[in-house]
Amino acid sequence: MIIEPVIHGVVARSAHPLGCQQAILNQINYVKSAQPIKHGPKRVLILGGSSGFGLASRIALTLGGAEADTISVSYEKAPCADRTASAGFYNDYYFQQFANQHGRQAINIHGDAFSDQIKTEVIEAIETYFEGEVDLIIYSVASGIRPDPESDKIWRSSIKPMTEPVSGATLVLENDHWQQAHLAVASEQEALETIKVMGGEDWERWIDALINAESIATGCKTVAFSYIGPEITHPIYLDGTLGRAKVDLHQTSHSLNLKLANFDGGAYASVCKALVTKASVFIPGLSPYLIALYKVMKQQGTHEGCIEQMQRLFTTKLYGQDKVPVDGERLIRIDDLELETSTQLKVAQLMESLNADNFRHVGDYNGFKQEFLNLNGFGFENIDYSQEIDTDMFIK
Ligand code: NAI
Repeated sequence: MIIEPVIHGVVARSAHPLGCQQAILNQINYVKSAQPIKHGPKRVLILGGSSGFGLASRIALTLGGAEADTISVSYEKAPCADRTASAGFYNDYYFQQFANQHGRQAINIHGDAFSDQIKTEVIEAIETYFEGEVDLIIYSVASGIRPDPESDKIWRSSIKPMTEPVSGATLVLENDHWQQAHLAVASEQEALETIKVMGGEDWERWIDALINAESIATGCKTVAFSYIGPEITHPIYLDGTLGRAKVDLHQTSHSLNLKLANFDGGAYASVCKALVTKASVFIPGLSPYLIALYKVMKQQGTHEGCIEQMQRLFTTKLYGQDKVPVDGERLIRIDDLELETSTQLKVAQLMESLNADNFRHVGDYNGFKQEFLNLNGFGFENIDYSQEIDTDMFIK
């Protein structure tokens, strides 16, 4: 099969295995040259480890100094005769190969992290591969839906404001269009369901299941990822349904911190930088901010991707210090460079001038699109995209 990029709206419907392999290799090369993670964890469970921050944390912890073994849970599409797999499926496949070549174990579990069945499977895998205990649990699941593990109900998240309607633009990657969107205020039910999907409840269920199974090692930490962003993004993010879910996640980190204190460990929410991932391009109104932010941070030399963020999180925040540095709300802040005053002043100015006619050259739309293509294994110069790919190998 010759594999070409197929994008519907902001969703990739195809992925290139060799490009996914290249994307992982690039991240490995980065962590090998970066400041190494010292005193890092050896047995790591990553929930949502096949792309974005979860995959980057897996690469950083395995090859960026800690030499960790990992178990990852993800929800990805396997390939079939006429369709490629989703990028995360290939990422898991190639990451496992690279990790094994470096003498590290990498176990991939595909299934619904929200379910009790996968929790049981993971606990069995911890018994088999980690001698029964984990040192770090990363919660990096990003999903639009969550089946209730105790009933037939499916909760659905909504990305909407909470107080007044918001107008913003979405950059449609399929046809490079600026599409104006108008978002109505969420109902209380929509906000509650978003908290069910993106808040801390499932994270807590995981930690409880691991505590009950006696799978928590002494000193075990857990971290989940959050976003706050500058004021310009608050109407759609922090003051909207997503922000409510993130506040719930922050509160969960405090209750989990008390539970893990019994093991001399700790629980944290880490506030990360806004980045192009499968999940973030979906947020209406956020993409104009992203192209302005990318432009300014690249000009200033402060731009980071998921891998730089994760390597910095583990070297300067979670490990190698006597105490994990947190802000007044006990949040780890790795979004410091994004929120620098000089950066935000320039981003705000740029956003004022962005419109449907000029966004391709005024903002970093090319960088935004390139990163999206790279996430799905496309747009790498050294890959010959005209060659036939044996997809049967992955089906088997
Ligand atoms: P992503 O879409 O790149 O990765 C999501 C991961 O969750 C994938 O591995 C996917 O397979 C997995 N997943 C989804 N549903 C699942 C299910 N039912 N069972 C098992 N695995 C499932 O997302 P990204 O952007 O890395 O997001 C991770 C976290 O980081 C989220 O909490 C997000 O809010 C947060 N974050 C993202 C930022 C961004 O700009 N991308 C900024 C700050 C925080």
